[in-house]
Amino acid sequence: MTAPWWQASVIYQIYPRSFQDTNNDGIGDLRGIECRLDYLVSLGVDAIWISPIYPSPMVDFGYDVADYCGVDPRFGTLADFDALLMQAHRRGLKVLLDFVPNHTSDRHPWFVESRTSKENQKRNWYIWRDPAADGGPPNNWISDFGGSAWEWDKVTRQYYYHAFLKEQPDLNWRHPDVQAAMYDVMRFWFDRGVDGFRIDVLWHMLKAADFPDNPPNPAYRSEMGEMHRLLQLHSTDQPEVHGIAAEMREIADSYGAMGRGKRVLLGEIYLPVERLMHYYGGERPGVHLPLNFQLIDTQWEGRALATLITDYEAALPLDGWPNWVLGNHDRPRVATKRGQAQARVAAVLLLTLRGTPTLYYGDELGLSDVAIEPSQVRDPRELREPGLGLGRDPVRTPMPWDASENAGFTTAKPWLPSNADSLTRNVARMTEESQSILTLYRRLLALRRDCLALSIGEFVLLNVEDEILVYQRRYDAQRLIVALNLGGQARRLQLPDWARDSRLLLSTVEDAALVEGDAVLLRSNEAVVLEA
Ligand code: NOJ
Repeated sequence: MTAPWWQASVIYQIYPRSFQDTNNDGIGDLRGIECRLDYLVSLGVDAIWISPIYPSPMVDFGYDVADYCGVDPRFGTLADFDALLMQAHRRGLKVLLDFVPNHTSDRHPWFVESRTSKENQKRNWYIWRDPAADGGPPNNWISDFGGSAWEWDKVTRQYYYHAFLKEQPDLNWRHPDVQAAMYDVMRFWFDRGVDGFRIDVLWHMLKAADFPDNPPNPAYRSEMGEMHRLLQLHSTDQPEVHGIAAEMREIADSYGAMGRGKRVLLGEIYLPVERLMHYYGGERPGVHLPLNFQLIDTQWEGRALATLITDYEAALPLDGWPNWVLGNHDRPRVATKRGQAQARVAAVLLLTLRGTPTLYYGDELGLSDVAIEPSQVRDPRELREPGLGLGRDPVRTPMPWDASENAGFTTAKPWLPSNADSLTRNVARMTEESQSILTLYRRLLALRRDCLALSIGEFVLLNVEDEILVYQRRYDAQRLIVALNLGGQARRLQLPDWARDSRLLLSTVEDAALVEGDAVLLRSNEAVVLEA
């Protein structure tokens, strides 16, 4: 097998504030991750991606970086990071960091300098504009968190641009010194041994040079959040961004020849598939994996899923490797969106599609969104546009490890409450249960590791109905069939001739499906993997 490691890997996303606290401040830390590495090995994932750990005022919980080359004391020290990296590598786990190049914190020394005067040498490291003729913001652009994306600076009498909070000023990526400084940041971590980055809001990094108004969004409804009032035509996805992605790729690939192996770049990009594909690169390669979020929002229905999968596969560039995401720290959890029974089916889907899956911490436990009392809300997204259901605290709650107080996450008061069902929905308890979703994940991950057909094999769609999706994965002589029942009715499915008397490798239900000659009997909400 010659595929690079990240193609056959499963990447596990850790939200470090919520994984494991070891210094009793109610916030997770790097040592906490280190002491849970054996869990990740036993789960069967290959790599971890850790959301930002850098020094930060934490206005956006680490996505407001004040120093790209350090570790926030709440999470530990650089030495803790090195120890974590060493221990992870010792266990064969790769480690990816979150790179946040679009914006810094307003406390970053670069911005502190930049805002001192119009003449400052770092002034143009950020996006400063004169007011419009009426004295208002330079254009109509809206922050992704609501409100104008421009903040007035009364000292220097100009506006600066922030795609997110006003505490997160956007860097000016058209400035060569910004590019050089940020590429050095990548080298800093690559030199330390990290195996790759997830790049935050890659499609935001360049804005139209002349800053025209964005057009109105005809499909806007107020419950979508104010950012959707306009189409982000000029503020995102500008053609020049691909040059930046290509530079980043070159840096990552320049490390490929070294002993520790190739490095990988994942790009966070929320765009329709046709536009997403450009991030794989054109003449020059772009990021290895432009993240594909379609499974999160799709209709949970056979035909919709089949169309989504085949359209995505068809749109991929020739050497583009697919990837699939079912959850992350910004979006509702899969168990909440699809329900517990279908969360198991979704696990099979995620881990049997062709491409690199990312698995969000806690989803392997079937963790649901945790209801957060108004007084406990921490997420600036919710605080700025309350009540629309856009807040992200519910999906960032502590990892439940066991039935002890605070679910074994901390001995202090956790920064967010644990799931109400943590007495039973926790790692220790579910490890013992042969039918838990955690056991299902372990079995799926083990199967994926054993079968090249699952990790890197071809994908062929076999059968689609309203509540049924069946496909084949194959590699050399190995042929697997994955059949998903997306509904509550038991179903008898005809198998193709070549799949007569297939062997059942895995099922999501205890009372597993029966293969009878050329048919498989699927129970309600059952997904199976068969070997022909
Ligand atoms: C995308 C991140 O995933 C999200 O959590 C964050 O709030 C924004 N970028 C701003 O950095």
